[in-house]
Amino acid sequence: MKRLPLLITIILIACTLKVEGKAIPFIPQPQSVEMKSGSFIISERTKVFVPKEYLADFQPYLAGKLMSDAGLDVQIKAGNRTPATNFILFEKSAELTLGEEGYLLEVSPQKVVVKANSYAGLFNAFQTLRQAMPIQAGSSFEIPCMVVKDHPRFEWRGLMLDVARHFQTKAFVMKQIDVLSSYKINKFHWHLTDDQGWRIEIKKYPNLTQKGAWRADRTGIPWWQRESATADEPKTVGGFYTQDDIKEVIEYARIRNVEIIPEIDVPGHSKALVASYPFLSCLEDAHFEVAVGGKAPDNALCAGKETSYTFLEDVIAEVAALFPSKYIHMGGDECNKTNWQKCDHCNKVVQEHQLKDMEELQSYFMGRVNELVAAKGKSMIGWDEILSGKGAKGATIMAWRRGRFTPEVDAPRGGYPTIMTDYTHSYISQVQGPLEMEPEGPKVVLPLSKVYGYEPIPEQLMPEEAQRVLGTEACLWGEFTPTEAHCEYMLYPRALANAEVAWSQPEVKDWARFQSSVEENFKRLKRDNVNYSTSMYSVYASFALDQLSNMAKVYLTTETVGYDIYYTLNGDEPTGNSTKYEGVFATENKRVLKAGLFNDQGELLGKITEIKIK
Ligand code: ACM
Ligand code: ZN
Repeated sequence: MKRLPLLITIILIACTLKVEGKAIPFIPQPQSVEMKSGSFIISERTKVFVPKEYLADFQPYLAGKLMSDAGLDVQIKAGNRTPATNFILFEKSAELTLGEEGYLLEVSPQKVVVKANSYAGLFNAFQTLRQAMPIQAGSSFEIPCMVVKDHPRFEWRGLMLDVARHFQTKAFVMKQIDVLSSYKINKFHWHLTDDQGWRIEIKKYPNLTQKGAWRADRTGIPWWQRESATADEPKTVGGFYTQDDIKEVIEYARIRNVEIIPEIDVPGHSKALVASYPFLSCLEDAHFEVAVGGKAPDNALCAGKETSYTFLEDVIAEVAALFPSKYIHMGGDECNKTNWQKCDHCNKVVQEHQLKDMEELQSYFMGRVNELVAAKGKSMIGWDEILSGKGAKGATIMAWRRGRFTPEVDAPRGGYPTIMTDYTHSYISQVQGPLEMEPEGPKVVLPLSKVYGYEPIPEQLMPEEAQRVLGTEACLWGEFTPTEAHCEYMLYPRALANAEVAWSQPEVKDWARFQSSVEENFKRLKRDNVNYSTSMYSVYASFALDQLSNMAKVYLTTETVGYDIYYTLNGDEPTGNSTKYEGVFATENKRVLKAGLFNDQGELLGKITEIKIK
C-alpha cells in the first residue's frame, strides 16, 4: 500500500521528463517539465503583467534582468488586463497547491502564464523562464513551449560566506546574492565575526569595528605559518559593514527571495572581539591583537563574567533590530577552553551551577545566549557543538561534523530542526580538483560530483525525524580565499550543485544531465562576469609500482562523462591526436605524464595534468 504512490510518482516524473529536442539546462532541475511543440517569441513588443502588490519590488528586477540577460526593454504593468496574445502574465493564485515557493509555468505560442501562491513562487518561476531563454541576446527569440510544475524539496537552500577571515565588499556580497538567487538559493548565512575580523557595526561597542575589523598584513605568507601581530604594527587589512550597508544588502536580497541570517560566533572564534574589549576575556588586564591567520588560542569570551552576557544582550539587540530574519546564528563551535580552566569567574559559575566540567560550562553559556536571542523574539541557530550537555532547547542546529560525531542523526532525533552543513560534502572551501593543480586550500578534495551526490536525509531517520531536516547549506570558509576571483572560483559551480541537492527531488537528479546543464550555465556565468572553476574537467592520475615487471601502472580518471582522456609520456602537450586513454596501462617509472580531457572536436576542456610518475 505504502509503496504504490511513490512508484506512480516516479513513473509520472519519468514520463514528464521526456523532452522534445534538446533538454533545457535547468539548475536546479524542476519537479516536472512537460515539453510541448512550438515556441513563444519574446520581443520588445511582449507585455509583462505582475500582481499590483508586487509591482514595486518585481518590476525593476524583471526589467533589469530582461535587459541584462537579453537586451530587451519590455513594458511591465500591474494587473491582469492582458492583450489577446504576446504577453507574460505573473499571477498570484491561492488555489495552486505547489506550496509557498512552488509555481506553475505554462509557455504556449501565444502567451506565458505563471501562477504561484506568493512572490517567492513567482520569483522562482522567473528564474526557470530565464534559463529557458537563449544565452545570446537579440531583438527577439524563442522560448520552447512547455508546462513546468515545480516546488522545492527543502525550505532551507543555503550558502554561507565567511567574510571574517577575509573581508569581502558589500558589492561583492550583493553580486553573489544575485547569482545564487538565480539558482533558487534562498538563505544567505553571513559569517560576520571570527578571530581574524569583526565585520558588523555595533553602535554601542565602536571598538569592535575600529579595532576588531583590522589586522596586520601577512599577505602572501601561508595561513598556518603567520607570526602573530605586535601592538605597534600598523593594522591595514580588513573592513566592515555599517548598519546602513547591511540594510541595503538585506533589501537587495529580499527582492531576490533571499533571507539573510547573520552569524555572531561566540564563545570561541572571538579573538577580534576580545582584542576590541579585553575585559570580556578571562584574562584580567590582557592585551590582544586581532589574529592574522592560523589558530588563535586565547580567543574565548569569558563564560563566567556577567559582563559577557550584558555585552551579548546589547549586541543581539542591535542585530535583532537590523535583520528581519527570525534567526540569529550564535556560533558555538570549536571553543578553546584553556583560559576558562584557569579563570576564577568561569570556575565560580561551574561551582555555583554544579557543572561537571568546562563542556557543561559551554552548554550553560549557549543556554543563556539562547535565552537572550529568544528574549528579542528571535530563534537561535548554532553549530552542532551546542547539542553537548543540556543542549539548547528551541534552537536550530547546523550539523557540520561527521564520523566520531553524528549530529546529522542526533539533532533531528533529539527534536531539533536541523540544517545539514556536512563538512564532507558541503564545505566548498575544500579544493575541487587534483591537489597539485588547485590553489592553496585544505588538503581535501571535494569535487563537484561529490557535492552533487549528497543526500541530506540520513537513512537511519524515521519519517517524522526526517521532517526536521530543513535543508542544506554549502559553506565557503574564508581562510584561503583573499580575493573576489578566488571566492567565486570556489563557489561556482559547486554552489549550483548544492542548489540542486536542496531543491530537486532525488528522483529527478541525474549527474550526466546536471553536468551538461552546468556546461550551458558556464556561458551565463561568463556573461555575468563570474569567475567559475572548470576543475570538473581535470584528470586525476594515480600510480602503482608493479614489482614483477618494475613498471608503473597508471590509472587516469575524471568526474565528467562523455569525454575522452588523451595523454603523452614524452613531455609533449597532449592534443586530441595523442594516445587515447583506454584503461590502466604500464610504463617506465619516472616518466612525465601529461593528460587532458578533450571533446569530440579535439578541444581541450580543462587544464593539463602534468605529473612525474613515481
Ligand atoms: C565549523 O566548521 N567550525 C563550524
Ligand atoms: Zn572566564
